[in-house]
Amino acid sequence: MYKDSFPFFKHQENPYHYLDSAATTQKPQSVISAIEDYYLKYNANPHSSAAAQELLDQSRIKTAEFLHAEKQGVVFTKNATEGLNIIAHALSGRLGSQDEILVTELEHHSNFLPWQAIASQTGAKLVIAKTDKFGDLVTDDWLSKLNQKTKIVALSAVSNVTGSANDLNMLIKEAHRKNCLVVIDAAQATGHQLINVHQLDCDFLAFSGHKMYGPLGVGILYIRPEIAKELNPLYLGGGMVGIVSDNNSSWALPPERFEAGTIDSAAVFGLTKAIDFIKSIGIETIIQHESKLINLAKERLSKHPEITLYSSARSKTGQSVLSFNLNSVHPHDLAFVLNQKGIIVRSGDHCAQPLMKALGIPGTVRLSVGIYNEPEDIQSLDGAVSEAIDLFANRKTTFS
Ligand SMILES: Cc1ncc(COP(=O)(O)O)c(C=O)c1O
Repeated sequence: MYKDSFPFFKHQENPYHYLDSAATTQKPQSVISAIEDYYLKYNANPHSSAAAQELLDQSRIKTAEFLHAEKQGVVFTKNATEGLNIIAHALSGRLGSQDEILVTELEHHSNFLPWQAIASQTGAKLVIAKTDKFGDLVTDDWLSKLNQKTKIVALSAVSNVTGSANDLNMLIKEAHRKNCLVVIDAAQATGHQLINVHQLDCDFLAFSGHKMYGPLGVGILYIRPEIAKELNPLYLGGGMVGIVSDNNSSWALPPERFEAGTIDSAAVFGLTKAIDFIKSIGIETIIQHESKLINLAKERLSKHPEITLYSSARSKTGQSVLSFNLNSVHPHDLAFVLNQKGIIVRSGDHCAQPLMKALGIPGTVRLSVGIYNEPEDIQSLDGAVSEAIDLFANRKTTFS
């Protein structure tokens, strides 16, 4: 039903069964039109035009409402990765060799490598909480690793491999009890579940617009305003300064402090239309729709004894991602066959090598859904998987 709102699916050459929304979603017409509108009607540099500045300001207010955040807490970035790097850099000054940073095995590299890097710069210890065979965080292990030395907790809202959703409310509360700062990677959560930073009570939260029906090139970093004033920016340049003198300079107040250079205002404007699109459907409807599809995929795929599912044992609703493998067939080989049958899935380690190591596999095939998917996409995937099982039955392919 919603496929009609997405021009991508009207192009004959494009695959109809797009099951790779976790990598990037397709864009509704309203978002595509907004980019064109921006350049037709509004284009000017916000640093020099009051009207362009006003548009940016309105976009910030709308984004803040979407997150239930204060306007000053919303920083425009390029993507989730940039937001997480900005925060890791900003917090590095608070760390010393006695301190610990707690991450988990299920993190995307974007929420793992920046912490590994600042741990090595500062002498702090990177502590990694374990996942189980479903890719779910082992809560007891996480809790046992949270201690007085832990200064930063960095955590995904949802795994991009197994769709496992963490119990953020409980984990954030526990982290704050130990006076830790909490960074949430919400790249796979926004657009799939309600994000309310006020209620979550997190200190930082990052995501990408392009994974929630918005354009490429814009992301959001939420920084709790009380903390933001104490933090130093990663990028230096135009638009983020107070006073510049020969030997030292002062920074503008947040959020501009973290927005050096000219922002991609067209993408920001497009993101606000993606927010409108999500609101017009309603997050509850999205959750119900996607859950039905993922449950159907679990039901269908688990009927094949040759298939191993890597899917959260926890999430009954609100899951939009799951992974699988076919015996010892390399995931790239299986994905290649599925892609040839017009089913777009992703294969590999999904930028989550620590999780692959924990699961003891080199990679998976991942399917991920968006509001435009329908049961027929899953049925077609299942049909293509059956054909692939037959195809590979007599061939010897292995992981190594
Ligand atoms: C959980 C998670 N975090 C971070 C990212 C990084 O997103 P981006 O490449 O848009 O910065 C991704 C991308 O797949 C992701 O799935």
